[in-house]
Amino acid sequence: MLCPTESQARANLAPNDFVDPSFSATVIAWQQQHGRHALPWQQTRDAYRVWLSEIMLQQTQVAAVIPYYQRFLVRFPDVQSLAAAPSEEVMAHWSGLGYYTRARNLQRCAQRVVAQYGGVFPNDPALLQDLPGIGRSTAAAIAAFSYGARAAILDGNVKRVFARVFGIDGYPGAKPIEDAMWRRAVALLPEQGVESYTQGLMDLGATLCVRGKPSCHRCPLAQRCVALATDRVGLLPVRKPKKAIPEKQSTMLVIVDQRQVLLEQRPDSGIWGGLLSLPEITPGDNLELAVARATAAIGEVASCEALRPFTHVFTHFKLQISPFQITLARRAQVVAEAGQVWYPAERLADAPLPAPVKKLLLEIFRAADLFA
Ligand code: ADE
Repeated sequence: MLCPTESQARANLAPNDFVDPSFSATVIAWQQQHGRHALPWQQTRDAYRVWLSEIMLQQTQVAAVIPYYQRFLVRFPDVQSLAAAPSEEVMAHWSGLGYYTRARNLQRCAQRVVAQYGGVFPNDPALLQDLPGIGRSTAAAIAAFSYGARAAILDGNVKRVFARVFGIDGYPGAKPIEDAMWRRAVALLPEQGVESYTQGLMDLGATLCVRGKPSCHRCPLAQRCVALATDRVGLLPVRKPKKAIPEKQSTMLVIVDQRQVLLEQRPDSGIWGGLLSLPEITPGDNLELAVARATAAIGEVASCEALRPFTHVFTHFKLQISPFQITLARRAQVVAEAGQVWYPAERLADAPLPAPVKKLLLEIFRAADLFA
């Protein structure tokens, strides 16, 4: 019988959309002859052990999981012992496996299974998926391996297999692509042999259809693989698109008087926190007014000249800097703004300035020969 989630998902399909029994038949035949059969969690149908293995195998390779899985079961042989254990002990047995949210969710899940289901994991993927740390694919794997439930998995390895075999051209993390892959995953489920099929997909993704150097010559799906036929194995699955780096604007005032430049202390937090830098005005503001405001207490402006804008690249954004050089006709007696200082040109090379600001100032002062 189909569980509710799968039957609902199937109801959303166009008739026969993606259905192809020869796909699962090929995967099952290959798994039975060439797949993995001796992994520790394959020797049981105990849902507690299957669940533990599936959580450990999220983001972690089989070889790394095996010793952790075995040690964990010695100390926590059943869901009750895990639920009742001090959390530090659970964490200690997870220590080194990484992604520690998994360990915290693991114990919360064990406690829910004890409290809500009398220590017996439910066999319905929808109920499993409602437990902490269990997503749709993990729920399906647990239900399939423990109870033979006919439920579809779609982890990173399966996405790679599907992307290549079916020539799926979009990033699998994008919602529409992922949704389409789930529809395929559900449609391709066999009527019989869901455990071999599920294990077969995992084995193909982990041993042949790997990211770096796939072994297409040994792959049972090679004949139907769109990526192989179109020479796109190295291009699929499509990688996560790089986010465009945001650009910010900064209008900086290089206020020069004789052989000195006006600098100001930046706030402790934010970019260049605590360094000295140039006074800035809000980009887009009326330049004349903004300059008048910025220089009101400093002196009388003789000239204001736009310098060549340039871009400074940070890890997460680009800063487009538009500098203006302002020469004073007369300097006021005091520097009005707190944190501002007139800085002598000859000390600029050693000043605590952001690199692009220092470079700009040294260029200006060298060009004007103001170091003399
Ligand atoms: N990766 C996720 N689940 C797995 C399993 N049951 N066997 C091997 N690798 C897996």
